[in-house]
Amino acid sequence: MTVNVVPVALGARSYEVRIGTGLIDRAGAEIAPLLRRPRVTVITDETVAARHLDRLRGACAAAGIAVTALALPPGEGTKAWPQFSRAVEWLLEQKVERHDVVIALGGGVIGDLAGFAAAVLRRGVRFVQLPTTLLAQVDSSVGGKTGINTAQGKNLVGAFHQPSLVLADIGVLETLPAREFLSGYGEVVKYGLLGDLAFFDWLEGAGPSLLAGDAAARLRAVTRSVEMKAGIVSRDETEEGERALLNLGHTFCHALEKATGYSDRLLHGEGVAIGCTLAFELSARLGLCAQEDPSRLRAHLRAMGMRVDLADIPGDLPDAGALLGLMGQDKKVIDGRLRFILARGIGKAFVADDIPPDIVRQMLDDALKLRSARR
Ligand code: NAD
Ligand code: GLY
Repeated sequence: MTVNVVPVALGARSYEVRIGTGLIDRAGAEIAPLLRRPRVTVITDETVAARHLDRLRGACAAAGIAVTALALPPGEGTKAWPQFSRAVEWLLEQKVERHDVVIALGGGVIGDLAGFAAAVLRRGVRFVQLPTTLLAQVDSSVGGKTGINTAQGKNLVGAFHQPSLVLADIGVLETLPAREFLSGYGEVVKYGLLGDLAFFDWLEGAGPSLLAGDAAARLRAVTRSVEMKAGIVSRDETEEGERALLNLGHTFCHALEKATGYSDRLLHGEGVAIGCTLAFELSARLGLCAQEDPSRLRAHLRAMGMRVDLADIPGDLPDAGALLGLMGQDKKVIDGRLRFILARGIGKAFVADDIPPDIVRQMLDDALKLRSARR
């Protein structure tokens, strides 16, 4: 079995991301060296628990590790105060000690919530990420951003808390619904767009076989994505500069997710893909990149069967002014000014914080008009 190991170099908080097929079946042996006593608590969701928790239990039992698990309801709605306090109180009931390890088994929702619970429990306990969605494997399990959503917006409460280990078993992606896989693929494409044209070139060819289940292609795509994220995080852990590039498409995405009520009208990675096309469209309108760049991006996303434009979001959307207002809650706002990640071409993203709101409003207005015309 090939296991690719990507180090995340953060001094005393360094850790490895191990990527391969079947890692969940040897998770006990992988995690055992981290443990002071042979027990772990697992936070997961009900869907993932039904498919993969018994395998994790078996792997831990084989290494002599006792497991207790809490399965929360699946979905973005779980990433909020009620299920967060439930998880923290459950961990306290399990008498988790400062030196114990909490395991997050699931997608980004579980990773963000369990990581935040580990960050605040007894002022911080260690945790291990076992990401089970493509999105979590290439993005959310790496880099230590943890947190929950509130009524005011997405991810507004949280902490930087790095995991001690990430085990990305690409075999578990086989049970992932195609729509969820494509949502995660939005984040994969993002890495090519923000800093690696050759990776984007490769994805244009390999994307369909990735979707069809080609394990070698999946291993390569997850590994390259994690390498890029690990490099950026180790240079800028707390997003003082370069890490903001990882938010390509996210200012638009977060506004769209809020406008659609964090519901299955728009999954996070779908919002990222649409947000990336809007960021490239804005870049082209500003004369920063060629008009061929947003066209090429749209063509690839369409070829993958993905959502590409505002027109692909079902139901009603607010007008351009209201969408712009929703962007005002974004964490990238500084002194009330919106910062966007724009691009000088595919693979050449940069942070721009002097973008006139009128140009953004006009672009959104045009996209919304196109949407109405198509209905
Ligand atoms: P998710 O955790 O809701 O998982 C998506 C769905 O897939 C859920 O219904 C889940 O039960 C199901 N599922 C998970 N693994 C499965 C499997 N192997 N087989 C079958 N079903 C499976 O969503 P997500 O897309 O993984 O994560 C989205 C979240 O990640 C958002 O809240 C977003 O804000 C967050 N995020 C965080 C970061 C970060 O750096 N911390 C980065 C990107 C996204
Ligand atoms: N997903 C953005 C980041 O980790 O910084």
